[in-house]
Amino acid sequence: MIIAIDGPSGAGKSTVARAVAKELNFASLDTGAMYRAVAWQALENGVDLHDGEALGEIARTYPIEFRHFEGEPLPRQVLIAESDVTDAIRTLAIDKAVSPVSAEPLVREALVEQQRRIGHAGDYVVEGRDIGTVVFPDAEVKVFLTASDEERAHRRVRQNAERGIGSTDYDEVLADIRRRDDYDSSRATSPLRPAEDAVILDSTDMPIEEVIAKICLLAREKRSSPAGADALKKTISSQKKA
Ligand code: DC
Repeated sequence: MIIAIDGPSGAGKSTVARAVAKELNFASLDTGAMYRAVAWQALENGVDLHDGEALGEIARTYPIEFRHFEGEPLPRQVLIAESDVTDAIRTLAIDKAVSPVSAEPLVREALVEQQRRIGHAGDYVVEGRDIGTVVFPDAEVKVFLTASDEERAHRRVRQNAERGIGSTDYDEVLADIRRRDDYDSSRATSPLRPAEDAVILDSTDMPIEEVIAKICLLAREKRSSPAGADALKKTISSQKKA
C-alpha cells in the first residue's frame, strides 16, 4: 500500500509521515530530501541552478541513499554519492536553491523514476508535493496536508531551533515559506496541488496526533473495506467541515 502525503512546506508532512509509518509498520520516503540532495550537489559542483541539463545529469548519476541512525526504526540519514548531507540539506541556502532545482523537468523525471522504484518495493508512506498527482496516482490513500502560512512559519522556527539548523527569524522563515509556496504552486512541471481524490487535512487548529490518527484510520479502513474508506474520506476531510 502507498500512503501519499502532499502539501506545502512546513505543514508537518515529515512528522506525520514518520509517525504514520511507525504506527502502521510501513517504510517512509521523504522525496523533498532527494530534491534537496540534488540542490546540495549542484552547489557543491558549482553548477548554474538554471542549467537543466547539468542538474538532470546530477539527478540521474549521483546515487541518493537513505540510512538509519543506530537504534531508529526509520531512515533519516541522507547521502548523495557517499557524502552525508543530512544536516547540510536543511540550511536556508538549500531552502532557496531547491526551488529552481525542483522545477527542472529533467531532475523531476530522474527522481520520480527512483521514487517509483523505491515505493513499489513494499508498503510506504511517501511525502512530497506531487506524490498523489504524479508519482503514485494510484496510491490507496492520498492526503493533502496544509496549515496557514503563519502557523507553518511558527512550526518551522521551532523545528529549526530544536535542530540547531536553519533560520529562527520568524519573518525570514515566513517570507521563505511564501516564496516557496508561490514557486511550487506556479511551476510548469508538477505544480503543488491536491489530487482530486485526496483528503484535505488542515492542521492549523488540529493537533498533530489527530492528523496522524485520521490517516491511520483511513489506511486501516482501506485495507479492510475500500467502500467504507471512501465514506470515511468524506467525513474527515477538512474541506467538508468549512
Ligand atoms: O518538503 P521539502 O521542503 O523538504 O521539499 C524541498 C523542496 O523540494 C520544496 O521546495 C519543493 C520540492 N519538492 C518537490 O518539488 N516535489 C516533491 N515531491 C518534494 C519536494
